[in-house]
Amino acid sequence: MSHRKPVILVTGCSSGIGLALTRLLFGRLDDYRLVATARTSSLPKIAKAGIPSSENLRLRPLDVTSGEERTALIAEIERDWGGVDILINNAGISYRSVVEHLTEQDEQLQFNTNYFGPTHLIRLCLPGMRQKRAGRIINISSVGGMMAMPTMGAYSASKFALEGITEALYYEMRPWNVKVSLIQPGFVRSNSFKNVTVSEQARQAVETSSTYANYYWHMSRFIAGLMNRSKATPEHIAAKIIQLMEQPHPQLRVPASLDARFFTLMTRLIPRRIYHAILYRNLPGIKTWGTGQHEALESPAEVKEALFEKRSTR
Ligand SMILES: NC(=O)c1ccc[n+]([C@@H]2O[C@H](COP(=O)([O-])OP(=O)(O)OC[C@H]3O[C@@H](n4cnc5c(N)ncnc54)[C@H](OP(=O)(O)O)[C@@H]3O)[C@@H](O)[C@H]2O)c1
Repeated sequence: MSHRKPVILVTGCSSGIGLALTRLLFGRLDDYRLVATARTSSLPKIAKAGIPSSENLRLRPLDVTSGEERTALIAEIERDWGGVDILINNAGISYRSVVEHLTEQDEQLQFNTNYFGPTHLIRLCLPGMRQKRAGRIINISSVGGMMAMPTMGAYSASKFALEGITEALYYEMRPWNVKVSLIQPGFVRSNSFKNVTVSEQARQAVETSSTYANYYWHMSRFIAGLMNRSKATPEHIAAKIIQLMEQPHPQLRVPASLDARFFTLMTRLIPRRIYHAILYRNLPGIKTWGTGQHEALESPAEVKEALFEKRSTR
């Protein structure tokens, strides 16, 4: 009797968690079929990672912000492999910008990638999943989806939104046996923090050492430090995702690293008013924020390096 292998679709497989997940899932192709996707320009990065070809693996272009690419890919999977059984919305970008430096286009790009891309894909997969009365949707959120930090407002807003809609979907899909979860990684030790998207005004502020330059300086060093010290690697998070994917009764929210579990606990136990006060007082260099001391940056060149090296600007 032929047994249909569940089909997994993963977005954003060219680096970090997505690439680690592709590597791990490649070892599971006896049990699954995998469609690993990346933007056209980034597909060669998956090939370079040395993942061999297999009849159960398809590498496909998918820019999650493109309606045309989303529709064509889901149609292809339905036609050839009977549809998506497990959707893992991993692709994401992270803006580094204070709210005052964001344009509407910046916010749109942040949301198109982290929120609208995933929700459009979900809507394309749901009819097939409901028809089979089976399926799984795993959305990659973040500690940034539980708490917001200065210079990361747009990112947090997009993850808060993703958390909200995923929670609603969790209830809507229970009667259909479609299991819906959020994975919440904390700071991950990888080069991903170098992939932040810097708004044009943020770049200018740093380059001219003007207002807010010290926010960027302190926050980028602080976040890079947390990521470098983190014990969690993309491989750890990928293993957590697979564990969650195979659980018969997955939780809605799964903190995926030690710091994520700590923040979950902290936001539950400490009254919000006190939590905000503690966080504010402990922000790096907070005494200099808003004082006009931005010209006293230790090394503007170092700030630029910390913020802009290998980073994209939009
Ligand atoms: N790293 C962390 O500390 C951390 C913590 C919490 C949550 N997360 C979340 O984990 C997920 C993966 O992030 P990561 O850490 O692995 O970062 P990453 O290495 O920067 O990976 C992000 C992936 O998303 C892809 N991507 C960006 N825009 C896309 C688009 N429009 N269409 C398709 N793919 C797109 C990137 O592809 P390109 O190569 O084409 O840019 C890349 O493959 C994200 O949702 C992120 O928010 C990360």
